[in-house]
Amino acid sequence: MKVLGLDASPREGGNTEKLVRQILAGAEEEGAQTAFYKLSRMSLSPCMGCNEQCRDTGVCEIADDMEGLYGEIREAGAVVLGSPVYMGQMTPQAKAFLDRLVPFLRPDFSMRFAAPKKLFFAFTQGNPDPEAFRVYFDYTEQFLSRMFDMQKTLVIPGTRAPDDILGLEGFPENAREAGRGLAR
Ligand SMILES: Cc1cc2nc3c(=O)[nH]c(=O)nc-3n(C[C@H](O)[C@H](O)[C@H](O)COP(=O)(O)O)c2cc1C
Repeated sequence: MKVLGLDASPREGGNTEKLVRQILAGAEEEGAQTAFYKLSRMSLSPCMGCNEQCRDTGVCEIADDMEGLYGEIREAGAVVLGSPVYMGQMTPQAKAFLDRLVPFLRPDFSMRFAAPKKLFFAFTQGNPDPEAFRVYFDYTEQFLSRMFDMQKTLVIPGTRAPDDILGLEGFPENAREAGRGLAR
């Protein structure tokens, strides 16, 4: 299986990047092929809403780095989307990526995939309470379960400075185990 890891934090070398890389390392332990992309380093336009012709054609008209990611998603069995919590939600990079998945939706809202793909959210947040944004995480999982085989979201609380995650109890084993589970 191929596991695609996406870091939607704009900060270089931060907690979310470390988290996504450890999840991918866990997937590799189970024999998965992996690929890592940092969305903020890519040219990734928000959806322009054009005439939603992508719903009929399956093709997005915007020429940017999402073209390569569409190919990666088609090949992948699982996608890991790592994001810091920004103002109680995912980052703009993560949201832009999700909005650009509309070409995979047929007009009847079914997906243009031969088999369902796993989608796994991994959030980091400054707030030390892992339940602080539970309503948002649950809503996001529930909404996307119409399109993906949603996996249980991993939340890493209490991260502020870019290396904070390295000092947290349970890391990186929790991330590795999540990656192994995804690839199984
Ligand atoms: C613009 C901005 C908004 C943030 N909003 C929140 C928030 O609402 N709740 C929270 O717990 N942490 C918030 N944080 C903290 C980050 O989620 C946290 O430090 C995260 O681990 C950063 O990930 P990174 O190191 O990969 O950049 C915010 C940080 C920034 C820069």
